[in-house]
Amino acid sequence: MGPVQIADGVFWVGAIDLALRDFHGFETPRGTTYNSYLVVDETVALIDTVKAPFADLMLAQISRIVDPADIELVVANHVEMDHSSGLPAVLARTRSARLVASGKGAEGLEKHYQRGWAIDVVRTGEEIDLGKRRLRFIEAPMVHWPDSMFTYLEEDRVLFSSDAFGQHFASVERFDDQVWDDPDLMVTARDYFANIVLPYSPQVIKAVATIGEQGVDPAIIAPSHGVSWRAHITDILGAYDDWCHGRAEARVLVVYDTMWGSTQQMAEAIAQGVAAGGIHVSVRRLGADPLATIVGEMMMSRAVLVGGPTQNAGMYPRVGGFLTYLKGLRPKGKLWGAFGSYGWAAVGQRAMREVLQSMDGETLEEVAVRWVPTPDELGRCFALGREVADRVREAPNEDARAGG
Ligand code: FEO
Repeated sequence: MGPVQIADGVFWVGAIDLALRDFHGFETPRGTTYNSYLVVDETVALIDTVKAPFADLMLAQISRIVDPADIELVVANHVEMDHSSGLPAVLARTRSARLVASGKGAEGLEKHYQRGWAIDVVRTGEEIDLGKRRLRFIEAPMVHWPDSMFTYLEEDRVLFSSDAFGQHFASVERFDDQVWDDPDLMVTARDYFANIVLPYSPQVIKAVATIGEQGVDPAIIAPSHGVSWRAHITDILGAYDDWCHGRAEARVLVVYDTMWGSTQQMAEAIAQGVAAGGIHVSVRRLGADPLATIVGEMMMSRAVLVGGPTQNAGMYPRVGGFLTYLKGLRPKGKLWGAFGSYGWAAVGQRAMREVLQSMDGETLEEVAVRWVPTPDELGRCFALGREVADRVREAPNEDARAGG
């Protein structure tokens, strides 16, 4: 695929990674893209690069527009290697391009590549004149790393937003309106936020506020992954506002793993209880369903019930790993619950409840069943599901993250 003009003299020169299915442990059933943008003005500027294996492809894309040697400015919005590891190849082809990054970006690039590059540090509000147009920089620390930065092309109103508003969504189309009918677009945007950005929600809120203070009014939001937003900017900004503020839907997620099927029976009975209460319930099995999807659904659900058997006087390993991951994402304002089966003592379920209690929200008493559930015990699970449905229906959809 060749370069794509996204605005007058602004070209996408990135790479499509259709085959990617694992992005550092995050399942990517729709692949991803690494977006790099070329701004052709009196000064030719490159905004971000691509993952190193795609650097030659990016340079070939650039060569169809200008000689890469003529690039005079390279902006590194983010140090993470999916966007910066193409830098050595780019800088080797330019004559003497000026490299700019945030302060933390300059530190991070030196530590990652150890090339002794001269890096000009830019701060929020600073501009670089390209001739007919200007680039303005907006620091966005922790969206996603301390170095993260946005770059705004003033005259064309293009906001290069780095990881923010990205999706692991590979397509030959470059704009939201071209793929809006594909339900995976917003699902991949949701899962991207839930798995990568969620812990930094307060910083995203701050970055969006800074954009407003800077008078930035983008006609195009061009993230570093997936398609650019031009027709549905209000939709993605609204979704980010909801996700950042922990606004969930009146739905329940039951997520479990099972050893000999007892915890699965419990999961089914709980789900039946939730459904009988008129609330949508999603049932997911760890190890069978994509973790990224489970976490996306977790973010959207007001209540999350986690099931797993006791093993070796502790949590079932995959459930323990899930809870560790979940805790790191710092979800807010959920109704949590733990359930599962045991043989000698309900140690695993207690440990699960303790992890859930350490997170924001309210945690119900665990429901534990010895070996195989009886009909009465499955009735208790059904009753738990009904209770959770009632609680979810009555819960206000408040801003769980208000105040950070
Ligand atoms: Fe797509 Fe934080 O890198």
